[in-house]
Amino acid sequence: MNLSLVEKYRPKTLDEILGQPEAITIIKNVLSRNESLHFLFSGPPGTGKTSTAECIARYKFGDAWRNHYKEFNASNERGIDMVRNVLKRLAFIKGERIIFLDEADRLTEEAQDALRRPLEKTTGTMFIFSVNYEYKIIDAIKSRCVIVPFRRLPNEIVKKRLFEIMKAENIKITYSSEEEKQLIKEGINYLIESANGDLRKAINTLEKLINEKKQITVANIVALQKPKLALNAMLAAINGNFEQARKLMEDAYINNGYSYEEIIKELFEGITEQNIKDRDLRIRLFIEIKELEKACKLGTNPLYQLTGFLA
Ligand SMILES: Nc1ncnc2c1ncn2[C@@H]1O[C@H](COP(=O)(O)OP(=O)(O)OP(=O)(O)O)[C@@H](O)[C@H]1O
Ligand SMILES: [Mg+2]
Repeated sequence: MNLSLVEKYRPKTLDEILGQPEAITIIKNVLSRNESLHFLFSGPPGTGKTSTAECIARYKFGDAWRNHYKEFNASNERGIDMVRNVLKRLAFIKGERIIFLDEADRLTEEAQDALRRPLEKTTGTMFIFSVNYEYKIIDAIKSRCVIVPFRRLPNEIVKKRLFEIMKAENIKITYSSEEEKQLIKEGINYLIESANGDLRKAINTLEKLINEKKQITVANIVALQKPKLALNAMLAAINGNFEQARKLMEDAYINNGYSYEEIIKELFEGITEQNIKDRDLRIRLFIEIKELEKACKLGTNPLYQLTGFLA
């Protein structure tokens, strides 16, 4: 079986969870006191929530952990039925187990409410809820759980992990000049920055970069950089080429899946003396982009706003 790198390098013990000292301290404290409490893991994607839940199961149940670990995903079956028919019953069956409920912030309020009693009355079941947004969980659940915050991983830690994986996988960076070497280095830094603390995303992108000879070459890196479509659209519009500008912007937003936040960031960064010589025009653009940002935040159709901006 050929595991993805993300699965192959999933931590197996709490000590292997990287960059979450606060979370791990809280969890170890609870586990060492042997109290029967529940957990609410809260934080952005790819920061170790699911992995940590599995590590707790290994810690409590050893090699047989899979027999004691039940994972559910609230986004598949977000309703009251799943809670009533499955979770509530399971929580009261004799024996010990962990019920991990991923994406619990997608449960309806009614379904969350139905979990109060199981949380309080169960003796053998530890619930672990995982959420991206803590505010979507009702107080009645929060007050019955130990809340464990997961943070975006610092770039340094993401970088270190990627290089550990590359070493373990015997992946070689190959280049034929200093210039290529530099480009690859920049490309890897770009990969790390755009993962924005999401280690799963960083490892998945790394995996896409590797060719069949287990090499990373400059060609793989170039494919990684997103073209600066929005900036080119703005420059085309300044030159009076509206049709081309509109096409580029559509391409950015629809075909390449840029979010309006990414587009606005690119536009802001693009207003440099080098790109736009005219100082007054630079200031005007700056103000217009601020307006554009406001309008997009208010929820008007971004594409409509973006093309309006170009005109
Ligand atoms: N803190 C971490 N330490 C080590 N590896 C990690 C960490 N966070 C993420 N990873 C890597 O990323 C993969 C995905 O992590 P995990 O499934 O635990 O994320 P998650 O927080 O549950 O994300 P989501 O909110 O999307 O469910 C893991 O298999 C592992 O390779
Ligand atoms: Mg998860």
